[in-house]
Amino acid sequence: MRASLRILAREHLALRALARIIGLEAELLRRDGRADAGLLRHIAAYIAEFPNRIHHPKEEDHLFRRMRARAPERCQAVLDRLLAEHVKEGESIAGFLAALDDYAAGTAGAAGRLADIAASYARHLERHIEFENTEAFPLAEAVLQDADWQAIDAAFAANDDPLVSGAPGSRFSDLHRRIMALGALPPGL
Ligand SMILES: [Fe+2]
Ligand SMILES: [Fe+2]
Repeated sequence: MRASLRILAREHLALRALARIIGLEAELLRRDGRADAGLLRHIAAYIAEFPNRIHHPKEEDHLFRRMRARAPERCQAVLDRLLAEHVKEGESIAGFLAALDDYAAGTAGAAGRLADIAASYARHLERHIEFENTEAFPLAEAVLQDADWQAIDAAFAANDDPLVSGAPGSRFSDLHRRIMALGALPPGL
């Protein structure tokens, strides 16, 4: 697998683990009316800060842009869908954070609303990642050439996701430990 796709795959594993946690917390909320709001807020802050500012732009600015340049017609439907989902992701995380604020403030009906929003958020995130892994990345391998991959690999080497690297001192290191405990990131992948 290409170095840049390996980086994206690793970030997808971390995101999938977060989607699982969000889904579980949504179930707890439905069942007991309680969830770990601090953990959910931490996850939402991480997603707003890293995947939405680094992971998606990395896909868009390098991988998707070069795919469209090499094979515009072949890639159009897949890339249009993914770009629209990236835009929607920014709105969804804002809605998720607002629902968390309502829940923390004890607003009437907030637990049920948060459960619905969290469950739907987790579902969309999983679906997005699955579509990239099974449709977009194989398509990238089919249409891109060596010169594209060299440029993409070089661009990707520059940034580092604290959840994947587990960089000590990061304010996301607790979250990193938690997803490692779920077995979501096999060492050495
Ligand atoms: Fe994406
Ligand atoms: Fe992605």
